[in-house]
Amino acid sequence: MSVNDRTEDALNNKVKNVMTSRSKWHVPASIVSKRTVNPIRETVFNMRAKPNPDKELISLALGDPTIFGNFKIHESCIDAVIKQLQSYKANGYLPAFGCEEARKALAEKFSTEDAPLTIRDIVLGSGASDALNLAIGALCNEGQNILLPRPGFSIYQTISQSKGIECRYYDLLPDRNWEIDLDQLITLIDDKTACIVINNPSNPCGSNFSRQHLESIIQVCETYKLVIIADEIYEDMVFGSTKFYPIASLTKSVPILKVSGLAKRFLVPGWRVGWVFIYDQNGILDEIRDALLSLSNIILGANSLIQHSIPDILFNTPDEFYQDTINQCERSASVSASVLSEIRGLHVIVPQGAMYMMIGINIEEFKGIKDDVEFAAKLLEEESVMCLPGQCFHYPNYMRITLTPPIEKLKEACDRIREFCIRHHI
Ligand SMILES: Cc1ncc(COP(=O)(O)O)c(C=O)c1O
Repeated sequence: MSVNDRTEDALNNKVKNVMTSRSKWHVPASIVSKRTVNPIRETVFNMRAKPNPDKELISLALGDPTIFGNFKIHESCIDAVIKQLQSYKANGYLPAFGCEEARKALAEKFSTEDAPLTIRDIVLGSGASDALNLAIGALCNEGQNILLPRPGFSIYQTISQSKGIECRYYDLLPDRNWEIDLDQLITLIDDKTACIVINNPSNPCGSNFSRQHLESIIQVCETYKLVIIADEIYEDMVFGSTKFYPIASLTKSVPILKVSGLAKRFLVPGWRVGWVFIYDQNGILDEIRDALLSLSNIILGANSLIQHSIPDILFNTPDEFYQDTINQCERSASVSASVLSEIRGLHVIVPQGAMYMMIGINIEEFKGIKDDVEFAAKLLEEESVMCLPGQCFHYPNYMRITLTPPIEKLKEACDRIREFCIRHHI
């Protein structure tokens, strides 16, 4: 057999093998997709409960302030978008990391003496979730671990697990206004720890860390050389005389990627624009800066119409608008806390900010209800009130309610929760 014949035979065999191995449709889902889970969806799906058809459904489950129609966006935001739409100049592609006007406006609005920002320090994403995806993707490798709050917003887990990053949970202490248990946190850190995520003010806790506590957190990060991802999407949304401190304003040495966006402050979660601010006065994050730019190429950037509108949105929205949102949430917190804290079997941790309240359930005091998921399912079936079980946030025997429904609906929901508890309490 000639060399040519042998080569042809080998090729024919290869083709035959490929044809045999590909003779049937076999389309398994990717490994990444299989390890991408949304704990809220899974927990709620497992509840398998339907509302009571005789009672109107009141959902206290969703963190979307737009659904009841009682939170209106400010007209300056509408005008800003209309102006861009009519300009015919905001319909095209932009640099994947965000357009210059938007980044310039953000730097101008949020730069302070303690925490300076330039246009180079800002990367835009499609909502704060994409900004988190960029930050986690830039800092962490498969096989490393990331420190996440418990209870905490579930998207940190969703993003990390999908990238093969191990999630390690540090505890927040309900009897200390959800401060971090720093002694326990330290036990989680090792040489594979890539970074820590801190969410302040917190979803689901509604907590707002004191300056002193933030300084203690910074001290730990300084000691262990931990980079912080600070999810501050609820920045400034704090009640009464409490003050919000951006963590980056309290350190010059610990590098911070701050994540925030338009969703909550401007009440437009559907507009899908968020950002990462890089605070790094000592050049520790030089590589990470480039990494964020590279990763932003994956989706070619955030919504261009809204990016172009950012300068007007930031500078034309009056401060009273934010204050009004905060006042409504604070009033809702106080009204619901006053009803719920009187109910036997529940304990309320009164929030200091954001849009949520966590309620502890003394589950052993309720007949035949084994945990928070069953509690939430029965509450939905009997009273048509939907709350999120604590297990959605890795925190069993609690439930989270949202403070954004109209106050009358919230009161009605709290009354129904009281009736439910009275019926089931031992
Ligand atoms: C703590 C926290 N971070 C991030 C996000 C995501 O924000 P966005 O809608 O801008 O993606 C949310 C949304 O509820 C949140 O509660």
